[in-house]
Amino acid sequence: MNAFLTNFSQRRRWAADQAISFLMQQGVEHPHVVSLAAGLVDPGSLPVAEAIEAARGVLSDDLRAQSTLQYGTTQGDQRLRQHLADYHNRLEQTSAPPADRRTSQDEIVCTTGSQQLLALLADALLDPGDICLVAAPTYFVFLGVLEGVGARTIALPADEHGLRMDALASELQRLESVGELSRVKLIYVVSEFENPTGISLSLERRAELVEIAKHWSQRRGGTIYVLEDAAYRELHYDSPPPPSVWSFDAAGDAVIHAGTFSKSFAPGLRVGFGLMPRELRDAINDLKGNQDFGSANFNQQLLAELLASGRFATHAEEVRAAYRIKRDAMLSAAAEFFSDLPGVSWVQPHGGLYVWMSLPPHIATGFDSPLFRRAVDVEQVMYVPGELCFGGPCEERQRNHMRLSFGVQPPDGIRLGIRRLSNAVRAIA
Ligand SMILES: Cc1ncc(COP(=O)(O)O)c(C=O)c1O
Repeated sequence: MNAFLTNFSQRRRWAADQAISFLMQQGVEHPHVVSLAAGLVDPGSLPVAEAIEAARGVLSDDLRAQSTLQYGTTQGDQRLRQHLADYHNRLEQTSAPPADRRTSQDEIVCTTGSQQLLALLADALLDPGDICLVAAPTYFVFLGVLEGVGARTIALPADEHGLRMDALASELQRLESVGELSRVKLIYVVSEFENPTGISLSLERRAELVEIAKHWSQRRGGTIYVLEDAAYRELHYDSPPPPSVWSFDAAGDAVIHAGTFSKSFAPGLRVGFGLMPRELRDAINDLKGNQDFGSANFNQQLLAELLASGRFATHAEEVRAAYRIKRDAMLSAAAEFFSDLPGVSWVQPHGGLYVWMSLPPHIATGFDSPLFRRAVDVEQVMYVPGELCFGGPCEERQRNHMRLSFGVQPPDGIRLGIRRLSNAVRAIA
């Protein structure tokens, strides 16, 4: 024990008590629990053979091995960025309808997972008290990032087509009328199969979102950026998603597109990337230079190899097929064990890793609720309490939802978990 008190920074205090740590701890303390909480990918789907082959490729001759094992550059390996540009352009072209806008490797920054990009963007754009507009609910780890830089989040309603544009426009109007428009710097959307709801932003709303951001940037006299988090873009089980929000930003000055290979390939590689306007690229490179002057070069070379050989594309197909089965397993278990419970409903996702289940308003699902304790201690099943996924003031957060992940468990584990969860709900209701 240190003899003196540690005088932590304000930023450290803002980062305290993040829910993700509590969840991880629950997992460790209750190893027999069926976890429908973890956002991890299916262990059986991890591409071991592909990774070995790609590693052999990048280490095949001395010269190549030496450059792979050397430091890289802050912005990321040039060969990988070229492959990423081609890959991204292909996704835009094969979306329905195909988009016109194309990217180039100059526009791309490679990061350590897309999470690092999200954190760097928060650092680059947000001073304490600045505002980020988000959907209610949204990706809870990013809410923690925003809290960690002292930013304010305003949670706006979403429906089956994603974040509601009427609500966004009227909130910006309200903020202007109370003199707070200058504090708005960012609008965050998970465009594909939102974590936690599984809902995607509709094609019409993508175009509208860019228009609204540009209109209010003009009124504000400074850019309000749209951060499009496309972490689940590849995990579609029914039809490919529409063109990205980024593709509607013809001038290329308003939208940041964050992508990752964690969900579609292997989170252990920690390879993510961002497409962004020039001045933001410079800012991210400066901040990243201070942090790590480049993400793991070895992993970037590995991914470049996988994209070049076509092994990534084949693997992504396999992953979709595996998760489609698990999505269906969760939906049929929900129908089997929850249909007769009044006031219970759930979203039928077309992609991603989650089913969002809503209970009657009087049944709270939080860490300190009777339901969570019953689920973990008696029924041995765990979920993510929905309230973690709401930004804005604590007292306004909805407390009766659960995020259920079908990522890690095999189909019979999913069925078992859902059955146990329904027992827990019946015991509490
Ligand atoms: C919506 C969303 N964005 C970003 C991330 C970060 O992923 P990674 O850093 O592995 O790319 C996640 C991870 O679960 C996520 O769900």
